[in-house]
Amino acid sequence: MTADLAVVGLGHVGLPLARAACAAGLTTIGHDVSAAVVTGLNEGRSHVGGVTDADVADMVAAGFRATDDASVTGRADTVVICVPTGLGADGTPDLGAVRAASRAVARGLRPGMLVVLESTSYPGTTEDVVRPLLEEGSGLRAGTDFHLAYSPERIDPGNRQFGIGNTPKVVSGCTPLCAKHAVAFYGRFVETLVVSRGTREAEMAKLLENTYRYVNIALVDEVALFCDRTGIDVWDVLHCASTKPFGFAPFRPGAGVGGHCIPVDPRYLAAKAEAEGFHFRMLSAAHDVVSRMPEHVVGRAVGLLGDMGKAPEEATVVLLGVAYKPDVADARESPAAPVASGLRARGVTVRYHDPYVPEFAADGTFLERVDSLPDALAGADLAILLQYHTSYDMTTLTRADCALLDTRGMASGARVTLL
Ligand SMILES: NC(=O)c1ccc[n+]([C@@H]2O[C@H](COP(=O)([O-])OP(=O)(O)OC[C@H]3O[C@@H](n4cnc5c(N)ncnc54)[C@H](O)[C@@H]3O)[C@@H](O)[C@H]2O)c1
Repeated sequence: MTADLAVVGLGHVGLPLARAACAAGLTTIGHDVSAAVVTGLNEGRSHVGGVTDADVADMVAAGFRATDDASVTGRADTVVICVPTGLGADGTPDLGAVRAASRAVARGLRPGMLVVLESTSYPGTTEDVVRPLLEEGSGLRAGTDFHLAYSPERIDPGNRQFGIGNTPKVVSGCTPLCAKHAVAFYGRFVETLVVSRGTREAEMAKLLENTYRYVNIALVDEVALFCDRTGIDVWDVLHCASTKPFGFAPFRPGAGVGGHCIPVDPRYLAAKAEAEGFHFRMLSAAHDVVSRMPEHVVGRAVGLLGDMGKAPEEATVVLLGVAYKPDVADARESPAAPVASGLRARGVTVRYHDPYVPEFAADGTFLERVDSLPDALAGADLAILLQYHTSYDMTTLTRADCALLDTRGMASGARVTLL
């Protein structure tokens, strides 16, 4: 059987892509190294928030199959690589999955195929890392025998307004012809395509988008630290500044940044800059500020407990919302982990409540999960609102007997303290 598309890496990026392609009528297959992911999908179960079991059932009904056999990529006209690009133990880019996927795709590469990298990485990855692996493994030449492109994913988990189809997509190719093939492919299910000059520009554009968020979050975090020191209400400052109809994009301070992108992607840029002998000062300054925020939240919490006459060792704190953003189940790199660790290091008993996250660990130790919000509040001296999931009822939060430290600037009331 041949296919229009083979998606390599069926996670938060690859699975929604496969769903969009299936819905547009493309025959789609998926390859993942995880047997659990493959089995689950073939049995109609989704492991990705925002993709329902019913969605997967529709995909399977449309002919979608997942497999851990990488050779299926050789049966597709287009292969899109969506594998993780995390950090190694030393905090530097780990392109192991991209290399492994490229080698696997190379083995089945045929003339005329289009290979697209969607994984986020530093500029030069497509040309300097993926291209040689594909060429050496296949004996074919990119731009001559097969087409090679880079197109960054802009998926925003939990966003109900923008999905793959209506979010403009940046597309690039190693040659203009490669870009043309990539445009023809994505044009089948994405409304607006933006063609960049080359793959490096597209790779850099993705890093700029996420670094922009990172640096601006760091800026408002530092404003919050300054306001805390000087007795200024940072939330009112943000409210006032946000009324400017031009030239100001609002960001909110918080306990830190999380997820697979915002804390990670700037590290890719920093590593590439360092390799080029370029010191990216904004990145180091932002990293410095953002990494202080969990400890700032811990300090505020311990201070509030002290105001109540509670020693940390006698106190119970419940973390509300340990996912890295509202209304998602993804807790990767969540700042809830360093907040929990900091509190535990001071002897505090820490629990959590999150309707989306069934288990959560900090420093390798699982936190006790409380299933119901009223029970979570009733059993704590202090609740810390880390993410404001829309299912959180503000009245329940603010009328609870325990104190509330609100890091999102949403709540008000006698027992509420804002970050
Ligand atoms: N999650 C997001 O919101 C988001 C948004 C934009 C871009 N990205 C980028 O997209 C890429 C993928 O991220 P994700 O969130 O989907 O990751 P993920 O961890 O959710 O999924 C990746 C999948 O790839 C599989 N995999 C790993 N190595 C493989 C290999 N060699 N061959 C086949 N499958 C392999 C894993 O088993 C996993 O199922 C990353 O570069 C990430 O930075 C993510």
